Amino acid sequence: MSKKIYLYGNWKMNNTYSETEKFFVDFAPAYAPFKDADDLEVGIFAPFTSLWPLSQGAKKCGIVFGAQNVYYEPKGAFTGEISIPMLKEYDVTHIILGHSERRHIFLESDEVIAKKTKAVLDAGIIPVLCYGETLEERESGNTFTVMERQLRSAIDGLTDAEKAKIIYAYEPVWAIGTGKTATPDQAEEVCAWSRKLIGQPKAVILYGGSVKGSNAKELLSMADIDGALVGGASLKPASFLEIYTAYKA
Ligand code: PGA
Repeated sequence: MSKKIYLYGNWKMNNTYSETEKFFVDFAPAYAPFKDADDLEVGIFAPFTSLWPLSQGAKKCGIVFGAQNVYYEPKGAFTGEISIPMLKEYDVTHIILGHSERRHIFLESDEVIAKKTKAVLDAGIIPVLCYGETLEERESGNTFTVMERQLRSAIDGLTDAEKAKIIYAYEPVWAIGTGKTATPDQAEEVCAWSRKLIGQPKAVILYGGSVKGSNAKELLSMADIDGALVGGASLKPASFLEIYTAYKA
């Protein structure tokens, strides 16, 4: 069997409740031919307010689904935040943590992301832990220093079983939403390096940053890239699923 591909869609702040319902009207038939593919796992991550229609659509289609963020405290005086018990009532299976937009626009620290990672694991939910360098960091030769800091702060102190459960997503900030993709060699270099640092040979490591049908095959064919975290191209069922068909072609 060929390697299993993880195709995860990060909708970001797109798709209202009703738009999510509409998405699944188109997605269900488009996904039907791939439903039984044992080398594909599809997941979608929606805004909190769209989690109900997402959960309904995802369960019908048999895909995994989740939120794009969460707070680590279970309840209390944290105005504007959403807790893990709140998300559990929607049966979310996964939660994205540490996305670069959380780190850079909303100034989430490594320390906060580490607390979130542990709390999500403790709740039996899979964290999709994002990390990656900015253009400035890459150009100044600091790519690996930055990523080591981001990764270690989140996983040092976890057990091997916990480290193996996390899904890692390398997303160079300069490639997100910019149309600039890391070359397959650049992405592979970081994913292979990450696998060693994580110390779990079978860890699932995704690449994210302008992945689409036209660059999917070369990226997903790399030995240490297990799948893609997809923003823009995940908003339409056709451009999302095309990433898998292009890889297989
Ligand atoms: P993009 O986003 O595919 O639109 O570049 C990827 C991401 O931020 O997860």
